[in-house]
Amino acid sequence: MHPHPTLTERYASPEAKPEFVDRLFDKGARHYDSVVDWGFLRSGAGYRKWVQQRHGLKPGMKLLDVACGTGLVAVESAKILGSAKDITCLDPSSGMLEVAKGKLDAHFVQGRAEAMPLPDNTFDFLTMGYALRHVSDLETTFAEYRRVLKPGGKLLILEVTKPAGAISGFFFRVYFGRVYPFLSGLFTRSRDAKDMMRYYWETMDACVPPERVVEALKAVGLVQVERKGMMGLFSEYTAVKAG
Ligand SMILES: C[S@@+](CC[C@H](N)C(=O)[O-])C[C@H]1O[C@@H](n2cnc3c(N)ncnc32)[C@H](O)[C@@H]1O
Repeated sequence: MHPHPTLTERYASPEAKPEFVDRLFDKGARHYDSVVDWGFLRSGAGYRKWVQQRHGLKPGMKLLDVACGTGLVAVESAKILGSAKDITCLDPSSGMLEVAKGKLDAHFVQGRAEAMPLPDNTFDFLTMGYALRHVSDLETTFAEYRRVLKPGGKLLILEVTKPAGAISGFFFRVYFGRVYPFLSGLFTRSRDAKDMMRYYWETMDACVPPERVVEALKAVGLVQVERKGMMGLFSEYTAVKAG
């Protein structure tokens, strides 16, 4: 199952999506941290650390951060683990990886969630922050997560989810669809940053509902699958590989 339909105004076919997405993040990489920082009212770092602690990341665990981007999740993981030596960061965008490498002494791998060049049964904990919309197929991705997790290992997927209510949905649409991309362009003076945040909205708007993500996690044989909503805006998906 695709996480959203083909966005034909952006790329012609599903096959063309990865190249389009890579280019978008390569070009926007140097602006990503600042735009995300103020766009989420400086809550991002604290939330990324808190959510990992709350879902059981502990020192001694081997962690894989998929779609690490500029390292915003993994930097917080390293604070919990005490260092980055047991962290592997994976992302297809060389631009995003370049920024992350400047922050963390982790193991970096260029690759996609759908086919990770990583061994089976390796990680105790797997994170993916705000990138599920960019994969080509949910079940293929989740089967990969199951493969690389150790038996008993846990995954944590973070997403922003469009609110269901009419009023909250309206404000969400105005902020993420108009205000956020406009201010991103204004503050950075970069068309690439504006475009990256415009696409952020387009994929959120078109994304399958949380129930479909939960179904896909269960379909690949993961257990204890849950989705927790946060502040009507964030989704925290968790699942475990049976021991
Ligand atoms: C919005 S950024 C999220 C970065 C970071 N995880 C965070 O919490 O801010 C999305 C990231 O997903 C990456 N990405 C896009 N397609 C991907 C894929 N198929 N597999 C893994 N990562 C992908 C992009 O290169 C980008 O770095």
